[in-house]
Amino acid sequence: MDVLKYLEECAALVEPEIDRWVPREIQPEVLAKAMRHLIEAGGKRLRPCLALTACEAVGGKKEDAIETAAALEMFHNFTLIHDDIMDHDEFRRNVKTVHVIWGEPIAIIAGDALFAKVFEAAAANASRLKLNLERTLELFNTLSKASFELCQGQALDMLFESRDDVTEEEYMRMISGKTGALTEAAAKAGALLGNADGKKLQALASYGRLIGVAFQMQDDVLGVWGKQEKFGKPIGSDIREGKRTLIIVRALTTASDEDRGVLLKAFGKSHATNEEIREAIGVLKRIGAIDYVAERARKLVAEAKRKLEVLPDSRAKEALLGIADFVVEREF
Ligand code: IPE
Ligand code: IPE
Ligand code: MG
Ligand code: MG
Repeated sequence: MDVLKYLEECAALVEPEIDRWVPREIQPEVLAKAMRHLIEAGGKRLRPCLALTACEAVGGKKEDAIETAAALEMFHNFTLIHDDIMDHDEFRRNVKTVHVIWGEPIAIIAGDALFAKVFEAAAANASRLKLNLERTLELFNTLSKASFELCQGQALDMLFESRDDVTEEEYMRMISGKTGALTEAAAKAGALLGNADGKKLQALASYGRLIGVAFQMQDDVLGVWGKQEKFGKPIGSDIREGKRTLIIVRALTTASDEDRGVLLKAFGKSHATNEEIREAIGVLKRIGAIDYVAERARKLVAEAKRKLEVLPDSRAKEALLGIADFVVEREF
């Protein structure tokens, strides 16, 4: 299966639905513009696609999950807007970030406004399907719990910046929260709306979590080893910002004193020169820290794919398998 084409197919379905929940007519106008800015800039629409595909993989139709698919992209964009403030990042999806254009107060409120729409759209979905009370509550619980876990992950991400002793285990817990929680919620919400039984629901939730974690590891790899024009985000900014990615955690425990010296010249130094960043990246590559992370991500993808064995064969299942591989093969 051509996964890129498949993602585009999902995106084409969900785009009008996102427009319906975040219309250009929102007042005041600046709020509409700030809410829509990143949405209009593109993105892979991975989370909506996970929800639509999970719904289909358990016997539903993609249309059954369309409002929730839009909700998940709104949710994701809310986290991106706030994350860029926290991370002092000026580019995403190859455009300037929301706080750079409109300032932090408007960016904060645009994020909050997107988040508010998440629950309105999910309610509309449950209501249209006449979903029973138990499933409706589980849908809302899934979204609420993911929100909270994401906050925990983001808090750890920030706290780790000022710690030198972050372990691999702590890193895994942090990314499981900041990224895995939402991809799990996406797959699980789709499965709930498709009326999955308990076993399939659990399998899809675990699949979503595992590919989310692998996705974040690949994101960290691309953040140092990707092509900026493709990736859409600044290369090396995790190093400047002092992010404890697994690449860094690994490098700091395996590098020679000399290599560590090169890394520390750039790491956490917002004024590091491009040359210092380049040299640090050269060390990360040479000592195998980047390959180590890519390899661990691949193992998680294999585990995620095994979770899908409980699903009957279908095009949707094939897509989920393809998406799992895409997560670690992607360059953007
Ligand atoms: C970016 O997510 C944030 C991370 C979890 C790494 P995506 O890579 O899915 O971003 P878009 O939506 O495609 O821009
Ligand atoms: C990803 O955060 C997770 C969230 C946005 C909640 P990162 O800070 O690692 O991702 P990018 O690189 O800014 O997309
Ligand atoms: Mg960030
Ligand atoms: Mg961040």
